[in-house]
Amino acid sequence: MMDKPSSKTLLFAGMVGSSLSLLVVAAVAHTSHLSRTELTAEQLAADGIVYEFVQLAERFPVEFNRYFPAGATTESYAEALRLGRDIYVAEACWHCHTQQVRPIPADEQRWGPRSQASEYRNELQHPIMRGTRRVGPDLSREGARRSNDWHLAHFYDATSVVPTSVMPAYRWFHDARGYPNKRGMAIITYMQSLGSWLDCYPNCLDRPPSTMQRDPSGTREGV
Ligand code: HEC
Repeated sequence: MMDKPSSKTLLFAGMVGSSLSLLVVAAVAHTSHLSRTELTAEQLAADGIVYEFVQLAERFPVEFNRYFPAGATTESYAEALRLGRDIYVAEACWHCHTQQVRPIPADEQRWGPRSQASEYRNELQHPIMRGTRRVGPDLSREGARRSNDWHLAHFYDATSVVPTSVMPAYRWFHDARGYPNKRGMAIITYMQSLGSWLDCYPNCLDRPPSTMQRDPSGTREGV
């Protein structure tokens, strides 16, 4: 009869086995990516400029032309997307927000179609913006959900539109008059672009997004 393997041998075999499986998973993921190119911000922009970017140009013409002298073109839209993404990273928005609709009914009912791997294959997803926790809602389907004005007010003082909000104020997205500065225009454009690549955009929900409203009686309506 063979001797029972010692616990050291078992540990060693377990470690070799799990290392091998990790290597195989990494190799498969790596090779499946090799054949696919990643979209640049310009290529994303060439797919279409979201209406809200044009609307910023119409509503704040003097300021917009100062920040984006070429007007609302594919190039300036790409620039705004890239800057908006950089601000999203720098301000740690990802600390409180995800960009990933999980394949579970609660997520899909609230935000629309579940996220697909292909949505992350572009320059704006470096580093990938899935996030780790939701102090605030998922933002991957944020485009066209709110107006530019809503975002402007929300970044200035979130409680002005959502009374119970714990989201910090981002006053440095505004100029002295409360208009969006370049950073403000970029982050709003980035927000309005999220999910604009979906076929169902801008009507991925068959109902308006839930919202919190001031109630004259003093009680608050929930999200
Ligand atoms: C401390 C956590 C926190 C941080 C940091 C934070 N948020 Fe939020 N955010 C929230 C919460 C909570 C809500 C939900 C209440 C509300 O709408 O204000 C929210 C809501 C939002 C909404 C509205 C979503 C919708 O349609 O209902 C947007 C857009 C948003 N955040 C963008 C941002 C951006 C961009 C940043 C970074 C500049 C950021 N948030 C940083 C907590 C946070």
